[in-house]
Amino acid sequence: MTFDRKIKIAPSILSADFANFGAECEAIEAQGADWVHVDVMDGHFVPNITFGPATCAAIRPHIKGVMDVHLMIAPVDPYIEAFAKAGADVITAHVEAGPHVHRTLQAIRAAGAKAGIALNPGTPASTIEPLLDMIDLVCVMTVNPGFGGQKFIHSQIEKVEQLRALIGERPIHIEIDGGVDPTTAPLVAKAGADVLVAGSAVFKGGSVTNPNVYGDNIKAIRAAAQGVWA
Ligand code: DX5
Ligand code: ZN
Repeated sequence: MTFDRKIKIAPSILSADFANFGAECEAIEAQGADWVHVDVMDGHFVPNITFGPATCAAIRPHIKGVMDVHLMIAPVDPYIEAFAKAGADVITAHVEAGPHVHRTLQAIRAAGAKAGIALNPGTPASTIEPLLDMIDLVCVMTVNPGFGGQKFIHSQIEKVEQLRALIGERPIHIEIDGGVDPTTAPLVAKAGADVLVAGSAVFKGGSVTNPNVYGDNIKAIRAAAQGVWA
């Protein structure tokens, strides 16, 4: 994985057809997705359950690019190795998931993956200050994690600006997760985000038999985000 700050669109397969993950991953990549975002939920840290490392390993051969695994689970440390073995390029854990986030980040890098840290809407940007040398990505939750299709929380834009200032020239991605669409994408791009996760806004109206819609949706988000620099 090489680092850059270009806008990257990361469709979340939380909004894909769960009976067709392999084909869905291939379809979104063929339609212009930069990363594939994989939402792991445990019914404990968040009030919803999705899937685990076995599913990640099963879809890995269907993804050519970056597999971006977002762990909404607690505890997280006992499962890091399994997600790394499943082929995750990026493993993101929540700072709210346990008392030892520094140890968690060490474990992610030791397992050979890029280390991401996710912040819930109620968690301040300054949380990452002591961790800047430990992270490759910070994920700003712009909804309360657990479900796709929720409304973007506008107060998080200021947090993105603060993170961008804290990060400076360090090679750390700023990822936005929740409620990203062509209306909200330019707001976060302008604030300094480079990875835009989008579930419902990418998958709506399309299917593996009608994948061009995914392409149109991805293009619309990318164009809106890039438009802020035009
Ligand atoms: C929320 C997940 C998100 C979610 C985004 O807990 O982490 O990745 O799928 O979905 P949309 O884009 O529909 O808000
Ligand atoms: Zn996510």
